[in-house]
Amino acid sequence: MTTMPISFEVNAQPVSAEVEPRTHLADFLRESLRLTATHLGCEHGVCGACTVLIDGQPARACLALTVAVDGAQVRTLEGLADDPLMSRIKQAFHEHHGLQCGFCTPGMLISAWDLLRREPAPDEARIRVAMSGNLCRCTGYQGIVRAICAVAQTPA
Ligand code: FES
Ligand code: FES
Repeated sequence: MTTMPISFEVNAQPVSAEVEPRTHLADFLRESLRLTATHLGCEHGVCGACTVLIDGQPARACLALTVAVDGAQVRTLEGLADDPLMSRIKQAFHEHHGLQCGFCTPGMLISAWDLLRREPAPDEARIRVAMSGNLCRCTGYQGIVRAICAVAQTPA
């Protein structure tokens, strides 16, 4: 099988590897780096469970070929473990029942973090639009939206 060399950063750590051109980033993160917070749902770019940050922008790791992120900076939920804003969002999801099975949760947390980093005080309508790329099969979204509203309405 043909492989290609890649070098990029994951959670501020340099990574170099030989990968098959067809390997998508989510598989590489999960199977080669054991960063399993990045979940795979649809693998078609629809559900948002695989959302990570590529060069600071939210992106579907199931749609990004690993060879295409050569030279990029990738951040996963593991890389935000000590981030104060992410800690507040996680606590709010816990308090407001923002998760049930938890399958969508890593992608939800990344999208919520990206929204609140760019817009610290969005209203509920804005939150619903910003989170519309992340699907949840369990919660009915109410708790998720309440959690993000709670962070938006509480000064850091
Ligand atoms: S697994 Fe990537 S969008 Fe669903
Ligand atoms: S909590 Fe189960 S899919 Fe969202």
